[in-house]
Parts: sequence; structure tokens; C-alpha cells
Amino acid sequence: MNNIAPRFTGKTVIVTGAGSGIGRATVERLAAEECRVVAVDVSEERLANLAEEVDGDIVTVTADIADPAAIAPIVEAAGDRIDGLANVAGIMDGFEPTADISDATWDRVMAVNVTGMMRLIRAVLPAMIAQGHGGIVNVGSEAGQRGSAAGTPYTTSKHAVNGLTVSTAFYYTPKGVRCNAVAPGPVATNIEAPFHSEWGATRIGPFLQTNVPAVAQPEQLAAAITWLLSDEASNVSGAIIPVDGGWAAI
Ligand SMILES: NC(=O)c1ccc[n+]([C@@H]2O[C@H](COP(=O)([O-])OP(=O)(O)OC[C@H]3O[C@@H](n4cnc5c(N)ncnc54)[C@H](O)[C@@H]3O)[C@@H](O)[C@H]2O)c1
Repeated sequence: MNNIAPRFTGKTVIVTGAGSGIGRATVERLAAEECRVVAVDVSEERLANLAEEVDGDIVTVTADIADPAAIAPIVEAAGDRIDGLANVAGIMDGFEPTADISDATWDRVMAVNVTGMMRLIRAVLPAMIAQGHGGIVNVGSEAGQRGSAAGTPYTTSKHAVNGLTVSTAFYYTPKGVRCNAVAPGPVATNIEAPFHSEWGATRIGPFLQTNVPAVAQPEQLAAAITWLLSDEASNVSGAIIPVDGGWAAI
């Protein structure tokens, strides 16, 4: 980092899922580039570890983004100025095909991966529009590009992330707010992906054993997310960028 000019001096960026994996790597990268970071996670313990282990101007907020009442305190913690929002928090399903979906799994996956993301975007837009600038980056997935990467709830939620991204970009790019997504392939994180369906495992197993590129490190995703948040990506909006080791090309 020593040879790179910091891109976020004086800026404030909200990062969800900040306690682990891609979100934590994003916080580390932003903090190292002189950003003030509002780090959000449902896990108080993970946020405590983050605050202890990572240097920088980091404000932690323990919140479940699926809870409508959790959104206002996150925005308040950012203050008047919100330069960026990295919507990283997300959960997997249990590789359930449609016939095996429980309402509980469907509702939780959609609430965290889609509805919480939408509410946060909705909440930061007034400040970004007033400023005349803002960068929003949503974390989608290769599961948002195909049907063979996860169960039906997660696949549906990540396709919805793509729609939320391009529609937000369409409406607000003219007001200076850019909205983009990254679509990771496999990344070494703490995300849990158990097999809850026999047919799901039977059907998807061979696809996960072939054609899936090597597992990436969270820092590789953080590099793409922070580039999209930065002014370097000033002409990029509405893009869904695969950061997946080439999986999208297969
Ligand atoms: N790891 C992969 O292979 C992979 C692949 C494609 C996409 N993704 C996506 O990347 C994003 C980050 O996942 P990760 O792999 O870093 O996982 P992770 O589990 O390591 O980190 C996710 C963090 O989000 C937090 N979180 C979960 N639900 C939350 C909620 N309701 N409110 C607030 N925080 C919550 C968790 O506590 C955790 O700290 C997710 O959107 C995921 O779908 C991951």
C-alpha cells in the first residue's frame, strides 16, 4: 500500500458484513486508504475483533440489516456525508432446489441478501443526491449469472441483486450516484453452505467439481470493490463485474 496514493482521504463509506471475509477485507483496504469506515455486522464479536485488529478511523455498528429498525442507526453513524456504501453482507442457502425450499430459508435469504440491501441503498440515496455524488457497490455472485452455483433461494436473491443494481444505476447516475455490483466466484471466507437437499447435492455436485476456478482471497474482491467505490471508476455505473477467476467465461 505504501506506493499507492490513498483514494479515500476525507471520505466516509458504510460497509456491511464487515466482520468477516470480503466485508472485512474491504474495511481493511478502505481504512488503509484513509477512509472513515462505518463497519456494520450482525456479529458483535466479529466487530470487536475488527476494531481491535485493524488500524484506522472505523466506527462499528452491530445490526441485522434484515431488521427495518436497524437501518436508521447505520445511516446516523455515517453522519451528514456518505460517499460510499458497500453492501457486502449476505448468506447462503442450503443448496435447496425449488421443491425443497422452506419458507424460513427463502424469507431469510431474501431479507438479508435483497431487502436489507435495498433498504440501505434507499436510506443513503438522499445524502448522496444532495452531495451530487456517491458510489454504491453491491456484492452479487456467480450465482446471479447462472443456475448451477447455489440453491434456488440464493440464486434468486443474487439475480435480484443484479436488478437492484442496474435499476438504481438507471435512475440515479444522472444525479451523480453510481451503482455497480461485483459477482464473486468461490472466495475463502466463513460463509456457510451446507447441503440440505439430497437432490440438490446430487444435481449440483458435478458442476461444483468441474469448471469452478480456484478459490480466491477476500482481498482480491476488496480490490475490485474499492476500485468501484473510488473516483477511478467515475464513468462506471450499472456494471455487474465478475471477479471470479474466469468462471463467467466458461
Ligand atoms: N465466499 C464466497 O465464495 C462467495 C461467493 C459469491 C458471493 N459471495 C457473497 O459475498 C458476500 C460476503 O460473504 P463472505 O463470503 O465474505 O461471507 P462471510 O460469512 O465470511 O461474511 C459475511 C458477514 O456478513 C455478516 N452478516 C450476515 N448476515 C448479516 C445480517 N443480516 N446483517 C449484518 N451482517 C450480516 C456475517 O456475520 C459475516 O460477518 C455475501 O453477499 C456473499 O453472498 C461470497
